[in-house]
Amino acid sequence: MKTRAALLRGPGQPWTVEEISLDGPRAGEVLVETAFAGLCHSDDHLNKGAGLRFPLVGGHEGSGIVREVGAGVTRLRPGDKVVTCFIPACGRCRWCTVGQSWLCDAGASTLTGALADGTYRMHLRDGRDAGGFCALGTFTDFFVAQERSLVKVPDDTALDAACLLGCSVPTGWGSAVRAAGVRTGDVVVVYGVGGVGAAAVQGALMAGAARVVTVDPVPFKNEFARRLGAHAGFTTHAEALDHVRRQTAGVLADSVIQCVGVATEQVTTECYEMTRKGGTIVLTGIADHYDEITVKLPGGMLTSFSKTVVGCLYGFCNPHQDVPMLLGLYRDGQLRLDEMVTRRYALDEIEKAYQDMTDGLNIRGIVEVAT
Ligand SMILES: NC(=O)c1ccc[n+]([C@@H]2O[C@H](COP(=O)([O-])OP(=O)(O)OC[C@H]3O[C@@H](n4cnc5c(N)ncnc54)[C@H](O)[C@@H]3O)[C@@H](O)[C@H]2O)c1
Ligand SMILES: [Zn+2]
Ligand SMILES: [Zn+2]
Repeated sequence: MKTRAALLRGPGQPWTVEEISLDGPRAGEVLVETAFAGLCHSDDHLNKGAGLRFPLVGGHEGSGIVREVGAGVTRLRPGDKVVTCFIPACGRCRWCTVGQSWLCDAGASTLTGALADGTYRMHLRDGRDAGGFCALGTFTDFFVAQERSLVKVPDDTALDAACLLGCSVPTGWGSAVRAAGVRTGDVVVVYGVGGVGAAAVQGALMAGAARVVTVDPVPFKNEFARRLGAHAGFTTHAEALDHVRRQTAGVLADSVIQCVGVATEQVTTECYEMTRKGGTIVLTGIADHYDEITVKLPGGMLTSFSKTVVGCLYGFCNPHQDVPMLLGLYRDGQLRLDEMVTRRYALDEIEKAYQDMTDGLNIRGIVEVAT
């Protein structure tokens, strides 16, 4: 079949929206009609970073409806509503079996976009195979994914809100609840209030933080966090540090969660300065290049103050367990997803959508595919 896809032909290239051909699902695979795709910053890193295989169809945060299943698919049927998992959970590898599915060996396909058998279902008009980011590729009308990369959600689920459960919400919520281990009474500082940071704020509050402070250079981001329940927000690290110092009689924050769009050595150092003795710094935001040095800290001080630095992928979540759980919190009115969706775009507005993200206009933009 034919489908439209927003893709990158190589590093430094702009997004192009092209008609491509899509093979049907093979064994263990599922054809999904995309409903919504979230505009995560991780897709924006793709054409600036290195080490990827191109052409690459973007989009890993998404929701849609199953249209066809390949042989051996047992958990999904045509008509089911699904949310994507940006790291597949194979259930069999060492990491999955010990409850660390975010490290699943199948996640190695993330950067090539190949499916489990190492081949591709998407092909450009010139015949070249295209991968889908995270073995997904939700910036499309239709995509083929492995069954293990999809979570079924109830038939009455609103797919626009649910699409955020494909990445930003488990990532941010889990960065606070799981990786930082926020506890009742904690002081938590979140750097960067995009889709990931807004979910981190909500996770910290749910875990019982007494005070949540945000740092984001864009005033509206801090105002949004206040509406979610954060207690204070600042556009500079210096102002936030001064505030937290005064609030804690110099002790500083129990945990600091870094969710900025482009991680830098400077922001890591700021997070470190903000953290109390024995406190935790969670690094969730990444740089454009995966191998860029963004952590350079005084080791002797880190040791003397026994601070913990944690790299955190996917909020240490297991999507098959946590997506239904987070959806339940949303349905109960405890997790605010609808408010996080700032703007909606058509698939061919992808360049504008990422420009708006860069310009700080959105908490989360989403591509509305099924219009
Ligand atoms: N670890 C993971 O599993 C995982 C998953 C998803 C996204 N990410 C990464 O998380 C980061 C956030 O993603 P997003 O989609 O929410 O991005 P986003 O661009 O929507 O939001 C990032 C926010 O950071 C703010 N910011 C920029 N520089 C800052 C600074 N120096 N101090 C404080 N705030 C600053 C921006 O104004 C913006 O509001 C990205 O690096 C993304 O690639 C990681
Ligand atoms: Zn696995
Ligand atoms: Zn993402």
